[in-house]
Amino acid sequence: EDAAAANITEVSHTVSLEERSQANGHQGGIVWLTGLSGAGKSTLAMALERALFDRGWQTFVLDGDNVRNGLNAGLGFSADDRAENIRRVAETAKLFADAGMVVIASLISPLKADRARARVIGGERFHEVHVAADLATCEDRDPKGLYRKARAGEIAEFTGISAPYEAPDQPELVIDTDTLSRSEALARLLDYVDETLGKN
Ligand code: PPS
Repeated sequence: EDAAAANITEVSHTVSLEERSQANGHQGGIVWLTGLSGAGKSTLAMALERALFDRGWQTFVLDGDNVRNGLNAGLGFSADDRAENIRRVAETAKLFADAGMVVIASLISPLKADRARARVIGGERFHEVHVAADLATCEDRDPKGLYRKARAGEIAEFTGISAPYEAPDQPELVIDTDTLSRSEALARLLDYVDETLGKN
């Protein structure tokens, strides 16, 4: 046991997870979207949040680009910084899920080892979704002009160009945005969330 943890005792909640899910009409959980920049993670995340919210669900998106302005300000894109970015988002997502919410985490999270750690943190309520698109498609879309900059050598360690992306071997769900329209992609994801978290 490390020194800092030695004098810490966990306090029990009086509100149980079951009470929360009964009140909400759905379970809490973590929908973890992984994929290349430009694969469509953020668009899909926000569309899912909207769809669930409109049905009265408790939901919130944790997006890499957004948390890097606050909670994770100061973290860059080295392997170590990405690992810490992912760890903090996983811990935050766990808190939201413990509070009964459906957390939609939208991060490139390029390495299997980092996602495996996030899964351990999230436990059985962690659902890995691969938002898949060919690198060529993402580069072609280039919504923020980042691939162009990366190719020009203006961004170091850019995922897919000069840093790795390891696709998941056994995600709970694959959403292929090369072949699915936005509405089809959302419908698939919504079906999955309904099946897994829709009952209290
Ligand atoms: S990670 O790998 O999970 O820690 O990345 P994430 O927190 O999702 O942040 C990815 C967004 O940061 C921008 N950006 C970069 N991405 C990848 N590699 C490098 N070097 C980089 N520099 C900046 C980019 O806008 C990513 O957003 P998305 O939405 O994925 O396009």
